[in-house]
Amino acid sequence: MAAMGFSAIIVAAGSGERAGAGLAKQWRPLAGRPMLRWSAEALSMAGAARIVIVVAEGMEAAAAAAVSGLPACAVARGGDTRAKSVVAGLEALCADADSIVLVHDAARPFLGPGHIEALLAAIEAGADGAVPALPVADTLKRRNEAGAVVTISRSELWRAQTPQAFRHGALLAAHRGWRGPGEPTDDASAVEAGGGRIVLTPGDPLLMKVTWPEELAMAERWAVGTRTTRVGQGFDVHRFGPGQGLWLCGVWIAHTHALIGHSDADAGLHALTDALLGAIGEGDIGEHFPASDPQWRNASSDRFLTHAACLIASRDGRIVNVDLTLICEWPKIGPRRQEMRGRLATLLGLDITRVGVKATTTEGLGFTGRGEGLAAQAIAAVEMPA
Ligand code: CTP
Ligand code: MG
Repeated sequence: MAAMGFSAIIVAAGSGERAGAGLAKQWRPLAGRPMLRWSAEALSMAGAARIVIVVAEGMEAAAAAAVSGLPACAVARGGDTRAKSVVAGLEALCADADSIVLVHDAARPFLGPGHIEALLAAIEAGADGAVPALPVADTLKRRNEAGAVVTISRSELWRAQTPQAFRHGALLAAHRGWRGPGEPTDDASAVEAGGGRIVLTPGDPLLMKVTWPEELAMAERWAVGTRTTRVGQGFDVHRFGPGQGLWLCGVWIAHTHALIGHSDADAGLHALTDALLGAIGEGDIGEHFPASDPQWRNASSDRFLTHAACLIASRDGRIVNVDLTLICEWPKIGPRRQEMRGRLATLLGLDITRVGVKATTTEGLGFTGRGEGLAAQAIAAVEMPA
C-alpha cells in the first residue's frame, strides 16, 4: 500500500487497430482476465482512492463487468484521441487540484506497486510530472530524404511509459493549454510544453505497451507465467438420524431422515470447504470453525464455504472449478443436481459450468449402502500468484 493518497485514470478508449482485427486489445483476456482488469487490480491494490476507467461509447457495461468487485472504480466516456480521453478522465475524477493523479494506458497490463511508489515519491518531492522511462537499447536508424539509412545517437533518448503522475489541476490545465502541433502522445508532453519539470523514474520492460499482435501473444505468455494452478481435495461423512430433511450443497431436501452434526451437517459443503482450504494449504474446516465452539452449533455451512473462498480471493487467487461426488443410497440427488450446482455457483461467484455435482451409490455395501450415513468428496482447482 502506497503511503500517499492518489487517484488514477486508466485510458481504454482506443480501437487497438495495430493489434489486429476483432475485440480491441484492452478487452482481450490475458490468462482469463480482461487486459484492462490487470491494471485496475494493480492500482486498486496499491491503494488508489478512486479509479476512472475511460472507454469508448458503448463499452461502459463491458468496463463495469471487467472491474467488477474492485472498489472505487467509475467509468467515463473517452474521446477520439488519447489526450481527449485523458481530459475526460480528469474531468470525471473531480479531484482536488493538488491531489496526485496517475494516468495509465490500459494497454500496459503489468504495472506493480514499485512503479507506483517511485512516481508518487517524485511528485511529493516537488516534480510537476513523473514518468517511468527506459533508456533506448537498440541502435536507432533513420531513412533520410535521399532514401539512405543513417544512424542517430541514442545517448539522450528515453522510452516513456505509463503510469505517469501529476497534480490533477496542473495536468488538466496543461492539456487544455496544449497548442500543438497535433496532440500530445503522452501526458508529460503537455506538462513539458507548459514549462513543467518532469522527473524520470526507472522504467521496466514489464510496463511494455501491447501494440502489435506478437505483443498480445507475449503478454499472454507472461500473464500465464505469473499464475500457478493448485488442487485440493476434501471428504466428509455425516450419519442419518431422526428428522424431516437435510441440507446438502446448500439446498434443503425434504426427507424421512436428517443428517446429524454439530453445524447443519451439510457434508457436501464441508467436503468442498476442505478442498478449497487444502488447495491453499490452510488446514481444514475444523481448524477454522472448531466443533468445540458453541457459535457454530447449527450454523449454516454456507459461511464455511464462503470463508474459504474469501481466503483464496484475499491472496489474489481464483477458483478455477470445483467437483463434488455425493455417496448415498438416498435421497436421490439427480432431481436436485441442477439446483445444487446453481447454489454452489452463487456461493462461490462462479459460472455454473465450473461446478460439478455427481452422485453414486455403493451398491448396498458399507455404511452408505446400509443407509447409515452420507459421504461427500470434493476436488477444487484454484489459480494463485506463482
Ligand atoms: N486510448 C484512449 N482513447 C483514444 C486512443 C487511445 O483511451 N482515443 C488509449 C488506448 O485504449 C490505450 C492507450 O490510450 O490504452 C494507448 O494508446 P494505443 O496503444 O495507441 O492504443 P490504441 O489507440 O487503442 O491502438 P492503435 O493506435 O493501434 O489503434
Ligand atoms: Mg493509438
